[in-house]
Formats: sequence, structure tokens, C-alpha cells
Amino acid sequence: MNISNIEFPDKPLFLAPMEDVTDPAFRLLCKRFGADMLYTEFVSSEALIRSVNRTQQKLTIYDEERPIAIQIYGHDPDSMAEAARIAEEAQPDIIDINFGCPVKKVAGKGAGAGLLKEIPKMLQITSEVVKAVKLPVTVKTRLGWDDDNKIIVDLAEQLQDCGIQALTIHGRTRAQMYKGDADWTLIGDVKNNARMKIPIIGNGDVTSPERALECFNRYGVDAVMIGRAAIGRPWLFSEVKHYFATGENKPLLSFEEQKAILKEHVIASVKWLDIDDEDPENNPFTLSECIINDIYNKRLKGIIHSRRHIAATPVFKGIPNFKDTRIAMLRAETLKELFFIIDSVNI
Ligand SMILES: Cc1cc2nc3c(=O)[nH]c(=O)nc-3n(C[C@H](O)[C@H](O)[C@H](O)COP(=O)(O)O)c2cc1C
Repeated sequence: MNISNIEFPDKPLFLAPMEDVTDPAFRLLCKRFGADMLYTEFVSSEALIRSVNRTQQKLTIYDEERPIAIQIYGHDPDSMAEAARIAEEAQPDIIDINFGCPVKKVAGKGAGAGLLKEIPKMLQITSEVVKAVKLPVTVKTRLGWDDDNKIIVDLAEQLQDCGIQALTIHGRTRAQMYKGDADWTLIGDVKNNARMKIPIIGNGDVTSPERALECFNRYGVDAVMIGRAAIGRPWLFSEVKHYFATGENKPLLSFEEQKAILKEHVIASVKWLDIDDEDPENNPFTLSECIINDIYNKRLKGIIHSRRHIAATPVFKGIPNFKDTRIAMLRAETLKELFFIIDSVNI
């Protein structure tokens, strides 16, 4: 499968863009475990044009991450074109447009999934962005606004006609937000529409190797995108790849290996959020360097940021009487505290 001239291996697995989750620290871990395509968190076109610092930081990508897309969102065609040009300067491989975000602060302002109610404008934005950049442009969207407006089969053709090079479909409507089950039937219908030539990436509720394979085989998609199931479990990609290659489940990583990956992720988050800003050239990135640099006892943004991954991870699932330890882990404020707790958990 190809997106423009970017080649992917058989049955590629994409890491879904997720705000506050898919920063370089997490992306690089997922890449190491086999994710074939990465996306930045979505970036507001307006904020990008105003050059807001935090937004600029979201454009940071590393060569080891390629291929990677910068995802942008907004509701104004000119601003989106301008934002796409700014994003292109950060040299991603693809510019992806978000027409899927359902949350009020985005969709309520006519951006993200809000554009599922304004198809002519959505198409105008898409055409303007395609015209504005040399890079391939892709779109990520949902089935439609609500149950009565599942327009994705027609919409996919219209978006293709605007010149996009691939389409990702999350099998829910905007009205569903994240509730109910993702419906892959319509994703399959888009894929089976003889008029569709561009790759179709299916997304929604893929949480296991078996389900990933079923999505490829049953719905014929060109790639499967995984989001929430990878939070706190970046090694999921290697489990899925192993299953594709052998038809068997990969022996699970040991408890100690899983804990080590979690800790590695916490350190990478600290490096990303607390160290790089201050001293990008000479930053600590291993645990011993953290200790030497005396950040072991500091309250760090990277630790707060890691809580979502620690809360979601299956690593500690099923451990009896774990509730208090879990609460303590999610309250820990320093690496010293957090790692002491993680190290002391045994099974
Ligand atoms: C915390 C969180 C943040 C998200 N942020 C984005 C985003 O920035 N851009 C986007 O296109 N989708 C975003 N999504 C949606 C996911 O990319 C994906 O479409 C959705 O979670 C369904 O896939 P999954 O069932 O594999 O998680 C987000 C989802 C979550 C849970």
C-alpha cells in the first residue's frame, strides 16, 4: 500500500492522532514496537497562525518517526491553507486534516466533526489545503453527523475528488462521540466502492491482534489505525504484527519488561516536557542521568502527563488489592516516588 510515494509494508498499522497523548515520547515508543505511521496531536490552524508556543511545540518531529503526518484542524479555508503551509515547513511526510473531532470546543465552533454539517465548506477547506502544499494531504473523519446522516460513502468520493491521497474513517458518528461500538460496515462499503482509488484506513475499537486481522480481512481496508488500546500499552503493535506473521499470539512481555517500558515512557515524557525546553542540547534522558542531574526529586510536568498512560495500562490489571497502590501511583509527583511504587509492585 502506498500513500502518494510513501510505501508501507503489508497490513500496516497506524497510531491514531490523540491530543495530549501522541507526543514524540509516546510516538517513538509505538514506532519501536511496530507502528508504521504516526500522527502528531491535532494542531489548531488559528493557533498555528498566531504562532502560539505550545502549538509550535506540537510541530516538532524527529527523523526516526518517519513517515509522520502533522494533523491540523480549523473552520476557515484561508486559515487552514495558511496553517498547512506553516506545518509543511516542519517537514512532515503528510498533512492530515481533522474532520472528526467531536468535542464541543472544536465541533461546536464549526471545526473537526462540525464540518460534517457543512459539507461544501469541508470540501472547500480540503481543496484549499491540497492546493496550498506540495506534500500529500489526507483526511480523517467519521461516518457522518448522526444516525440519520451517515454520509461517508458519498463524502469519501467527494473528498477524493478534492485531491486527497488517503482517507481515515473512524466508524462512529459525531453524535456518538466515543459511545457505542464503532461500525465498520460503512468503512467496508467505502473501501468496496469501485470509484474509490485512494487508500482507506479503518479506525475504531481495535484492541487485539485478532480484531486487527478481522478488520483487514472482512472490510478490506488498506491500513488499520489504533488509538486508545495503545495508551499504556505501546507494545500492542508488536503483538499485532507477530500475530499477522505467525497466526499465533506473541508470548506476553514479562511483568518486569512491561514495567520497564512504562518507566522508560515516563522518562521520555520528562525529557520532552521538562528538559528539552530548558536545555535541548544537553539533556538527561536515562534514569541515571536524571539522578545525576538532580531532577529525580522534582515535581515534573512529564510525570503528570504520564498519568493517563499509567491509569490506562493493563500492566497492573488483576493484581489483588491494588486500588491503594494505583491511587498512590497516580498521585506521585516525583520520579523517585513514582518509580519506588512501580518497583515495589510484584506479582
Ligand atoms: C484522548 C484522545 C485524544 C484524541 N485526539 C485526537 C486528535 O487530536 N485527532 C484525531 O483525529 N483524533 C483524535 N482522537 C480520536 C482517535 O484518533 C480515534 O479516532 C478514536 O480514539 C477511535 O479509535 P480507537 O478506538 O482505536 O481509540 C482522540 C481520541 C482520544 C481518546
